[in-house]
Amino acid sequence: MTELLQPDAEGIARATQLLGEGKLVSFGTETVYGLGGDATNDRAVAAIFAAKERPSFNPLICHFPDANAAFLTVIANDRAHRLAEAFWPGPLTLVLPRTRDCPVSLLAGAGLDTLAVRVPAHDIARAMLREIDRPVAAPSANRSGRISPTTAQHVLAELSARIAAVLDCGPCSVGVESTVLDLSGEDAVLLRPGGVTVEAIESTIGAVSHHHSPGVLRSPGLLASHYAPRTPVRLDATNVQPDEALLAFGPALPGAGSVFNLSEASDLTEAAARLFTALHALDAVGAQHIAVMPIPGHGLGRAINDRLRRAAAPR
Ligand code: TXA
Ligand code: MG
Repeated sequence: MTELLQPDAEGIARATQLLGEGKLVSFGTETVYGLGGDATNDRAVAAIFAAKERPSFNPLICHFPDANAAFLTVIANDRAHRLAEAFWPGPLTLVLPRTRDCPVSLLAGAGLDTLAVRVPAHDIARAMLREIDRPVAAPSANRSGRISPTTAQHVLAELSARIAAVLDCGPCSVGVESTVLDLSGEDAVLLRPGGVTVEAIESTIGAVSHHHSPGVLRSPGLLASHYAPRTPVRLDATNVQPDEALLAFGPALPGAGSVFNLSEASDLTEAAARLFTALHALDAVGAQHIAVMPIPGHGLGRAINDRLRRAAAPR
């Protein structure tokens, strides 16, 4: 049963406790309800993707109580500081390079070297974020392909029994998602229009480019290709050579030079949680190929296979 938590000290304490245990808690922000999990916990992040039934690992936004906390996980530049000053707390998400020792799960960032961070303008949400004192990853709390929820009841209708609790923060005042702005490169690039207008952003930092037509997201596939391993990837391996590194699932094939097992118990949530760490580790051994054992295509297996196909695509 999903607990419905009241927006008071007790409700916040319970939400914080559940998040700390790696459970999923939906909470309201000024934009839409988020499906929150401890962003530093791979298993919690994998559980978010499982609950949403996302067919691929889109990178998630990390939520913080204030700009100081956010800027401990990413490398902020001058434009980021000015925008944070002007619009945080508020419906603006900034994409910036991860710090070297960033504690956020690689899965939360879909393996990218950037991270999306935001400080929501909602007192209850921020009180919870302050109390938990670590980044909370939260996509909108709908199942993939459905509309974003703006009340606790919407969340219960969509995700009841898939998540531990919903912190009732009342109806969302903005009702559309945050504006996502990529500040990791030369130009500031609008990735998603949202609660803060482009005009307001431009009055703070100057011109913003829209390489992509308004309303259309930069393809996660395009983004993900930045982070393919250098070592060629061979999918659906049924045998493996000593000069290959093996990405195993279930009982590992014998004979590989090095092995990273995503889940000896063939558990797809565990496998998703370990996927990006595994690709990094196997890429570092200098093998001829990374041979990947077949992974079932149901549940989180769809997203895992989607990511592996991108990693194996010719570059
Ligand atoms: O208002 C909002 O932003 C809500 C509330 C809960 O905060 N969250 C939300 O999350 O809409 P989600 O996962 O539904 O959308 C996140 C967007 C996606 O379009 C994703 O591609 C983009 O942010 N994004 C996240 N990390 C990124 C990154 N490192 N680089 C580029 N885009 C990123
Ligand atoms: Mg969404």
